Amino acid sequence: MSRIILGIESSCDETGVGLVRLHDGGAVELLADEVASSVEQHARFGGVVPEVASRAHLEAMRPTAERAFATAGLRLSDVDAIAVTAGPGLAGALLVGVSAAKAYAAALDVPLYGVNHLAGHIAVDTLQHGPLPKPCLAMLVSGGHTQLLRVDDIAGEITEIGSTVDDAAGEAYDKVARVLGLPYPGGPPIDKAAREGDPTAIDFPRGMTGPRDAKFDFSFSGLKTAVARWVENAERRGEEIPVNDVAASFQEAVADVLTAKAVRAATEMGIGTLVISGGVAANSRLSSLARERCEAAGIELRVPRPRLCTDNGAMIAALGAHVVAAEKKPSALDLSANPALPV
Ligand code: KG4
Ligand code: ZN
Repeated sequence: MSRIILGIESSCDETGVGLVRLHDGGAVELLADEVASSVEQHARFGGVVPEVASRAHLEAMRPTAERAFATAGLRLSDVDAIAVTAGPGLAGALLVGVSAAKAYAAALDVPLYGVNHLAGHIAVDTLQHGPLPKPCLAMLVSGGHTQLLRVDDIAGEITEIGSTVDDAAGEAYDKVARVLGLPYPGGPPIDKAAREGDPTAIDFPRGMTGPRDAKFDFSFSGLKTAVARWVENAERRGEEIPVNDVAASFQEAVADVLTAKAVRAATEMGIGTLVISGGVAANSRLSSLARERCEAAGIELRVPRPRLCTDNGAMIAALGAHVVAAEKKPSALDLSANPALPV
């Protein structure tokens, strides 16, 4: 008998509600993936404003859930288990999703699972590419996170092997976009500008790649500062900023460091599959360079489609399905959000 899992996500600025079907053999099928974003309300601040995000979640949660059920052609009473992002993320934002999930679980008398947002970003890939090989390596690159994770079991055995020591990759994109006068969030406009630019025009620094640096950690704050200084100097000289070249050179530095470290980690650990997920995985240069380098190293590369890479409820439903399939213990109804939840 297959089971229906409801997934709820509210860790940042996206209210996501997903529905999946867990088939008997363990296959997970996507039925609905509805997202309401408050990104436009944050745009003029250049970053997510927690209070604004929480309020937007409150307003969007119910209509988003209703849309998901309508899309899937299901009723609330069809749900067999509920998964919700318990962390990491913004405390107030997380609490909206956790409260909603608890209310649904209590009303429907079904098990509730508080799950990890980062694991969700990896689990989502199973909706597109099927079961994950054990082990696999995951690189999670988003506005809030930049991490390399060894995944022995998506339902609970995930080990961080590297992470950013300062800014997340997406954060660097957002800050550099600001310096270049491009809109927020900065990833898509930089990606677009870079297509018209020369990635070798400026040799920006590759952070944490020195012989004494931690092997699998990242740093993007030096790169961000280098771009800002380069632009300031050009402005001081009264020169016009070659936005496309700066964007392309910055993007090349990010893609170079991310892919080099991921491929090196997979090779050194003898892992044959790399999954890249999170908002920055939508970056065209990151995926093309990753493809090139993985192919050269004999590593299978899996990148979920962009819609699945950014925050959504389907990723939490997918992770919930794997947790249910692994027969993990449900969370208690006094489950709380943990803004700093580790993987
Ligand atoms: O995963 P996500 O939607 O939300 C977080 O959990 O942070 O990631 C959002 C981040 C933003 O920083 C955005 O600028 C970046 O992903 N992003 C991109 C691209 N599309 C989104 N970065 C580079 N290239 C893109 N095409
Ligand atoms: Zn995320």
